[in-house]
Amino acid sequence: MKKQVFGIITLLLLACMPGFGRGSSQLGAQELAGAETIINHYAAGNFAAGEITKAELDTILAAGVRSPSARNRQPWHFTVVRNRTLLNQIVPNMSEGNILIIISASGDGKTNGAEILDCALATQSIYLAAQALGLGSRIYTGPMDTINTRLKGDLGFPGGYSAVALVRIGRLPPGVDAISSASSRKAPDRVVTYK
Ligand SMILES: Cc1cc2nc3c(=O)[nH]c(=O)nc-3n(C[C@H](O)[C@H](O)[C@H](O)COP(=O)(O)O)c2cc1C
Repeated sequence: MKKQVFGIITLLLLACMPGFGRGSSQLGAQELAGAETIINHYAAGNFAAGEITKAELDTILAAGVRSPSARNRQPWHFTVVRNRTLLNQIVPNMSEGNILIIISASGDGKTNGAEILDCALATQSIYLAAQALGLGSRIYTGPMDTINTRLKGDLGFPGGYSAVALVRIGRLPPGVDAISSASSRKAPDRVVTYK
């Protein structure tokens, strides 16, 4: 509930900011509501125990598969990790029921620039889809070296593929919301130029 209230307040404040969305100040809270997940996402720091349902996982994966890619080449592969032993080697001490979705592409995961951009978009789609369903999610690139040097075989990656990023998904503990979890961002007037 707190998150919803915060979301509406944020959207109203954003709508009043000069230049936000190029004229979005004319948009009402209801019209902006479709953008709520995109604007109010945050990287969950705490996760509760609890299973992700098949319907939730299928929806999240559908968002990944539906991502845009250059020339529509869809260079990605998605690996859903639920095995406790593997999970512990990638992100230790995860709550029961948390899952990881690893996004991989052909190459070494570092120098295949175009594929990495495509995979980054798929990563973002998965991250946002989970939050749109009311789940917590967090992107990680820290474990990529461990995955790519030690775990590719156990994870069953397609031949020649390397991990680019992963998204951790889990249920949120009660009381966690966008107010307590959000980090600040640079003000739009510092990072946007109009010509
Ligand atoms: C490309 C990328 C890599 C990240 N890697 C990690 C990581 O390895 N470990 C981690 O705890 N968080 C990681 N994060 C989460 C960021 O730290 C987080 O999104 C950022 O601090 C902003 O926080 P907020 O989204 O809650 O505002 C990553 C995020 C991105 C986009």
